[in-house]
Amino acid sequence: MSALTWSSYPAIDAWYEPGAYGYGSIIFQSAIPGAEMAISFSVNMKPVSVDGDPQERLLWVLREQLNMTGTKYGCGAGLCGACTVHVDGRAVRSCLTTLASVAGKRVTTIEGLSANNDHPLQKAWIELQTPQCGYCQSGQIMQAAALLATNKDPSRDEIVAHMDGNICRCGTYPRILRAVQRAAGQDI
Ligand code: FES
Ligand code: FES
Repeated sequence: MSALTWSSYPAIDAWYEPGAYGYGSIIFQSAIPGAEMAISFSVNMKPVSVDGDPQERLLWVLREQLNMTGTKYGCGAGLCGACTVHVDGRAVRSCLTTLASVAGKRVTTIEGLSANNDHPLQKAWIELQTPQCGYCQSGQIMQAAALLATNKDPSRDEIVAHMDGNICRCGTYPRILRAVQRAAGQDI
């Protein structure tokens, strides 16, 4: 029996062919020069003010300035979902989200998803031993959390469609699906 994959999985390898999408230039988006300014927003319910280039990507602000390394860098091009966080409750790719665009907004990262790592998704993830290497899993959980926040009882197809852009190179899709279903209270 073949492994369950998100619907885009067969096409993923092509993204990493040498030269595909020219990701070598994308990696250095954080170095785009610009005038620095103070930008205020909240991260995990705490107000922060960051002095930086307004075009700096939120991913690097979180990881390098705020020392929140739970949010991961994968592709830097909005293609893998490893960097997923919430902005005003909506799942976004922080590698593409500018610092300027979160001014006055509410950012939530994996570190702030729950007070004691006890979000139903986090509990299900542990119960089902969902991760393999773990690299993609913060993004997977944040993507799934945005779904359950608006749809408490998603169907299998709705889960797959919502998670479709979050890539797991270890192929843990079946366990992710089960974990989301368990967090939704579905008897699996
Ligand atoms: S690192 Fe942001 S989508 Fe891949
Ligand atoms: S658990 Fe390894 S990339 Fe997803």
